[in-house]
Amino acid sequence: MPQDHIRIYEVGPRDGLQNEPHSVPAATKIELIKRLGMNGLKHIEATAFVSPKWVPQMADHNEIMRAISAFPASDIAYPVLVPNDKGMDAAMASGAKDIAVFTAASESFTQKNINASIAQSIERFIPVIEKAKSENISVRGYVSCIAGCPYESDINPSAVAEVASTLYHMGCNEISLGDTIGTGTPNKISDVIKAVSDRVPVSALALHCHDTYGQALANIYAGLEQGITIIDSSVGGLGGCPYAKGASGNVATEDVVYMLEGMGINTGIDLDGLIETAWYICDQINRAPASKLAHAKKK
Ligand code: HMG
Ligand code: MG
Repeated sequence: MPQDHIRIYEVGPRDGLQNEPHSVPAATKIELIKRLGMNGLKHIEATAFVSPKWVPQMADHNEIMRAISAFPASDIAYPVLVPNDKGMDAAMASGAKDIAVFTAASESFTQKNINASIAQSIERFIPVIEKAKSENISVRGYVSCIAGCPYESDINPSAVAEVASTLYHMGCNEISLGDTIGTGTPNKISDVIKAVSDRVPVSALALHCHDTYGQALANIYAGLEQGITIIDSSVGGLGGCPYAKGASGNVATEDVVYMLEGMGINTGIDLDGLIETAWYICDQINRAPASKLAHAKKK
């Protein structure tokens, strides 16, 4: 593997908790974010400035950001999801320095998730990205449903490449490719990354795998072989999208770290501390971590 460093982008506090049936107290989320930072995560997606009517689990975004802004200064980034201009204004008012816009390669999923066509979602991002650029805020762009959609049949890699390239050329500095419902398998994921990297530099691509079908680590390995250097994951394997039935947990951060370290790739993350963090949050929400590693190495 040519990469000697992989950046892990932790999505637990956002993707991990946005689908929980019971809302998780803000204090618990803040403690989770703190522990992730203490254990070496440098990119922690903290919350989402989406409509509280659509995703009530993220309604405490201001409280989360207020707590983060009181953390001691550090080199940790706390990106937040932003669906539209209204969300952008609120994110900026909260002090966000990094944002992520999100759309998909599937028309039906985009409609269900953000009540817009793909083209409308891109239109919405224009003022968002303009504001971000003028305030030096970094912008990630998510493309969901890269390997399958809960409402449509197969998604063509060329459709993924088209949306990824549009987002990149309109100013997103990083594009995260989401296997939202985890149906991808390694060859499919490789084909998608090949198609996208014809149009977007592979150094700007992240891979975001849900583990619904148990394929996430194999898919990540395939992504590494294609030159991916940014991996999204969620502590304890928490995760899911309320608008994608079957989008169960993201790949567990501890599994990714274990695999990478075993391959001689440095992550800078304290694995034991991360596993303790997985147990902390899972105990708080009354479930067991999804990763086998968290069970095997439980203290
Ligand atoms: P809409 O209903 O079409 O919005 O929703 P609207 O513009 O018509 O406004 C309706 C109401 O929402 C108005 O309030 C607005 O003010 C309010 P009312 O007048 O009824 O009182 N509103 C907002 N409130 C707070 N924050 C905002 C906001 N915007 C409008 N930003 C909208 C459109 C995009 C807002 C909605 O569909 C939404 O919030 N969707 C978010 C869905 C979501 O969060 N999904 C999960 C994240 S994506 C994901 O998990 C995938 C990912 O992990 C990658 C992968 O796995 O593939 C990233
Ligand atoms: Mg996701």
